[in-house]
Amino acid sequence: MDVSYREVQAILRRGTFSRRDIITLLSVREARTREAIRAAAEAVVLRERGSVVYRRGLVEFSNRCRNNCLYCGIRRDHRTLPRYTLSLAQILRAARRCARRGYGSMVLQAGERREASFVREVEAFVRTIKSQTRSKRLPQGLGLTLSLGEQSAQTYRRWFEAGAHRYLLRIETTNADLFARIHPPDQTLRRRLACLRTLQNLGYQVGTGVMIGLPGQTVEMLADDVMFFRSLDADMIGMGPYLEQAHTPMADWAAAPPLDRLRLSLLMIAVVRLVLPDVNIASTTALQALHPEGYLQGLRYGANVIMPRLTPPAASRLYHLYDGRAEVIGRGDHEAQIARWVRAVGRQLARDDWGDSPHFFRRRQSACAAPNGRSGR
Ligand code: 5AD
Repeated sequence: MDVSYREVQAILRRGTFSRRDIITLLSVREARTREAIRAAAEAVVLRERGSVVYRRGLVEFSNRCRNNCLYCGIRRDHRTLPRYTLSLAQILRAARRCARRGYGSMVLQAGERREASFVREVEAFVRTIKSQTRSKRLPQGLGLTLSLGEQSAQTYRRWFEAGAHRYLLRIETTNADLFARIHPPDQTLRRRLACLRTLQNLGYQVGTGVMIGLPGQTVEMLADDVMFFRSLDADMIGMGPYLEQAHTPMADWAAAPPLDRLRLSLLMIAVVRLVLPDVNIASTTALQALHPEGYLQGLRYGANVIMPRLTPPAASRLYHLYDGRAEVIGRGDHEAQIARWVRAVGRQLARDDWGDSPHFFRRRQSACAAPNGRSGR
């Protein structure tokens, strides 16, 4: 579909976005029209979230996983992949580094597991990180986000009470057929949705997101994903291009050409920024894996969060969700590079700030504050 500059200008001026408008925006190919969308999204992020960029130190503490997602490099059936779990001491080292560098927040991610011992272990990690990273600059310790998949309400509650206050759980796609094609039958869209609701009810700031450019995915489906983010009232959004991973069943399924995935991923960031002005949006590692300036472009299109990986390199190489990721790590410490990119887009790095999504507090206010909720710890 060829979309005219004037039509897009009219949508941007109106500032309300129907499903049809979103489809129109996501279908733009022409450079001048894309630039108009990008500039509009950038203006919104600057107005709503200011010119700072928040960093979350990402620690991928284990690549063991009970699930078998058809796209993912750490899926259960990838039998030749050596599996690791970091020790508490290793995680703490990363957490201290994260605090020392002024990141303010950290994300603990791992493959999905549900054994009692795992639940207990994570609870201990959370408590220890919180207590060991308190300082004058961070009186409440590091902000702590978990990304550990689908769990019972009880587990989510235990981790929340231990001190985690944000949770990332991507929906991956809201299209039921596509979801079913890329996951084994024991994983359902319904349960994923129920988990997101549970997390919200417990008082977490909740992030979700999708992969972009999946085989068979259309702009209509992506528009539905954006409508879903709005109806869920998500506080944070993390999206990235789908990237083929050699050892997976999906490796040779036909996906869109990489440049189309890049264009679409950036447009999705811009559209989500326009539709949900006050949320946090991450410029993701997958974007950077697809393009040498992926992080930078994500910021230019309206993202305000970067999640640098602090996983120790030997482990990091085994946290291989998709091909191309290795190069992002391979360049060693890209701390200085991130600072340069942030400056290059005329923004500054936040320091010692949790960088919570203001959307969360507005959502809570309008819901009359959940009785067990905690906010600015
Ligand atoms: N390409 C892009 N993203 C992927 N993820 C997993 N596998 C891939 C892949 N092949 C993303 C999923 C998951 C997150 C942790 O990593 O969206 O939620």
